[in-house]
Amino acid sequence: MEGHKSSVRRVGDLDTPALLIDLAKMRDNCTKTLAQCTELGVTLRAQTKTHKTIEGAVLQTGGTRRGLVTSTLRECEFYADHGFDDILFGFPFIAHHMTRVAQLTKRLEKFHVFVDSQVAVDALVANSPPPGKMWSVFLAVNCGYNREGIRWDSADGEDLASQMHKASTVTFAGVYVHCGNTYRATQAGDVKQVRDETIERLLDLVGRIRGRGVPCPVVGIGSTPTCSHPSPSMKRLTELHPGNYIFYDVQQMTLGSCKQDDIACCVATRVVGHYPDRNQLLIDCGFTGLTKQGMAQLPSGCCIFRDQPNLKLEKMTQEIGNVSAVKDSLNLEEFPVGSMLFILPWHSCATAALYPVYHVVEGDAVVAEWRPTRGWLLVKLDWPDTAVWTTLTTMPAGFVWDEQSLPDTICSCGRGLCD
Ligand SMILES: Cc1ncc(COP(=O)(O)O)c(C=O)c1O
Repeated sequence: MEGHKSSVRRVGDLDTPALLIDLAKMRDNCTKTLAQCTELGVTLRAQTKTHKTIEGAVLQTGGTRRGLVTSTLRECEFYADHGFDDILFGFPFIAHHMTRVAQLTKRLEKFHVFVDSQVAVDALVANSPPPGKMWSVFLAVNCGYNREGIRWDSADGEDLASQMHKASTVTFAGVYVHCGNTYRATQAGDVKQVRDETIERLLDLVGRIRGRGVPCPVVGIGSTPTCSHPSPSMKRLTELHPGNYIFYDVQQMTLGSCKQDDIACCVATRVVGHYPDRNQLLIDCGFTGLTKQGMAQLPSGCCIFRDQPNLKLEKMTQEIGNVSAVKDSLNLEEFPVGSMLFILPWHSCATAALYPVYHVVEGDAVVAEWRPTRGWLLVKLDWPDTAVWTTLTTMPAGFVWDEQSLPDTICSCGRGLCD
């Protein structure tokens, strides 16, 4: 396991709020998802946006470091720097991305972009890929989620696929749908309905694309709710691309994707005050430690306090949370000032994004610290006397931040590509 091994630290030693990742649960979530894909005969192209760490992506790929989808170019570069390959930048490509996309195409054996517009295809066709390479392109398809993607029932999808097939510098890799409309479900039956509808709609488009003599090798759908409800119809696909399953969260639990016990991340927080007049506790976790996602979704607020079903996160300000009782009243003495509570978040991707370090735990022992990549840019640090390209949260070992290094940190092109 990679990561910075910490000395023997206990969860109780940590400053709070802290994001804890349960190693055994996370491993289990990854192993089960890989096994499920093997059983279905499809490839897992795991989405990294939930964790953005090297170690998490190693688990997601079963150690192969092959087959990822990311939501930022920064993640693509981060994974490319660490020996990963077959990476899809799963975000609508625009011409502005070209320089970084060209670099990644040059560096990796397989780097893919996805497009959902004529302007994007035109931009790729108008620019030569690096010598000896082709642009590898997925068509992003909208099967009802109504975010990115060409509508499945529009002839534009077939037209774009056909244009890409004919272009001498483009490889048409296949079709990709993120079925985020599963998150609108209120019960597992709704998730299954979206899953089946998405598969039918996508296969309809694929039939029309192939009907034009255009090969469509990859047929992929994703979202954690869909992939956590596998069905035989998924055998008709070639790829799945969930991401949140690595941690899961309370939202996934309510959608039937997982059980509470599968949730691999939580926020450790401390009680900092008792207010008997209003029967409330104060904790050192506000919205900058949890986010406000899912507010008022549950009787306990936007989260669940692990092993404490009667605690409700009533309100959050920036660094502080007010906790009251779900039912009746709290015996405040059961929660001494300074004691820890553990919060299962509504949306782990959003909560994890707040933390520059994850504390990986086995029981009560902190066994590693994982450092995710963050942001969108690569920054240049003149340290100690040579330029170092890095992100703000993956400092070279021994780097000491000081004010004076700040003015020169961001390269002039703003994209981390200039010297
Ligand atoms: C393009 C794309 N692919 C895959 C995923 C993974 O889906 P989930 O977070 O439901 O696992 C996402 C999540 O937002 C996404 O935007």
